[in-house]
Amino acid sequence: MKKLMAANWKMYKTVEQAATTAKELATLLADNLSGDREVLIFPPFTAIAAVAGAFKDKAAFFVGGQNLHPADEGAFTGEIAPAMLLDLGCLWALAGHSERRHIFGETDEQVGAKMAFGLEKGLKMILCIGEKIEERRAGNVETVLARQLEQGLAGVDKAIAPERLSVAYEPVWAIGTGEIAGPDEIKHAHSFTRHKLNDFFGANADEIPILYGGSVKPDSAPAIMALDNVDGVLVGGASLKADSFSRIVVA
Ligand code: 13P
Repeated sequence: MKKLMAANWKMYKTVEQAATTAKELATLLADNLSGDREVLIFPPFTAIAAVAGAFKDKAAFFVGGQNLHPADEGAFTGEIAPAMLLDLGCLWALAGHSERRHIFGETDEQVGAKMAFGLEKGLKMILCIGEKIEERRAGNVETVLARQLEQGLAGVDKAIAPERLSVAYEPVWAIGTGEIAGPDEIKHAHSFTRHKLNDFFGANADEIPILYGGSVKPDSAPAIMALDNVDGVLVGGASLKADSFSRIVVA
C-alpha cells in the first residue's frame, strides 16, 4: 500500500499563499519523493482550485476537501457538496475531524452520513477518529474508537475497494498542542483500528491506510512512520510551510 502523507491546512492561507506553498512543495519534492508515497493537501475550500492547478501534471500530488455536506445540492447555506469538490479537482475528503466534532458539534451519525455519501458520489474518504484526554484518563480509548469507527463506517459498502478509504487516528489532546502521542499509544490505537477494520471489511482491510495525526513535526515523523500499522500522517501546523512539510513527506 502507498503511504499517504497528508496536510490539513484548516482555515489558513489565501489563494495566493496556498498556490505558492503548493508550488514550493512540488519543487522541493521533485527529485526525492519515493514511488511508494502520495502527497495530499486539504486546503480551505477557496484555495482548492489553486492547489489543484499547482499539482496538475504531478502524478503523486492530490487535493481534498476538509468537509462535505451529504446532499447533492439544496438550501444548505455555508455547506459544500461532493460534486462541487470533485468539480474543483478533489480526489479525497475528510469526515469527522476533531474540530468538526468538538467545535461544530458533529455527531457520529452525521460523520457516518458524510462518509457514506462522499464515497457514493465518487470521492475517496478519510474517517478521522480520536479520543479526548478525559476519555483516555477514564480508560475509554477503545470504547470511543470503536463507536466512532462503527458509526462512521455504518453506511459504507463492505465490498469497497480499500484504496478508496482511510482512517486517521488523531487523539484530540495531541492536536495543535505540541504534545505527541507516545509510540505505545499510537501502536495500540492503530492496531485496534486495524482489527476493527478487519472485522468490518475482512482481509481487504489490511490495504486501508491508517494515518496518525497530532503535532507531527519533521523531527518526530520518522519514528512515527516506522511504527506498525502507521501508513501515513495527517499534519496540521507543520504542514503550512513547504520546507517543514516536505521533510515530513520524505520521513
Ligand atoms: P497539528 O499537526 O497542528 O497538531 O494538527 C493535526 C490535525 O488536526 C490534522 O488534521
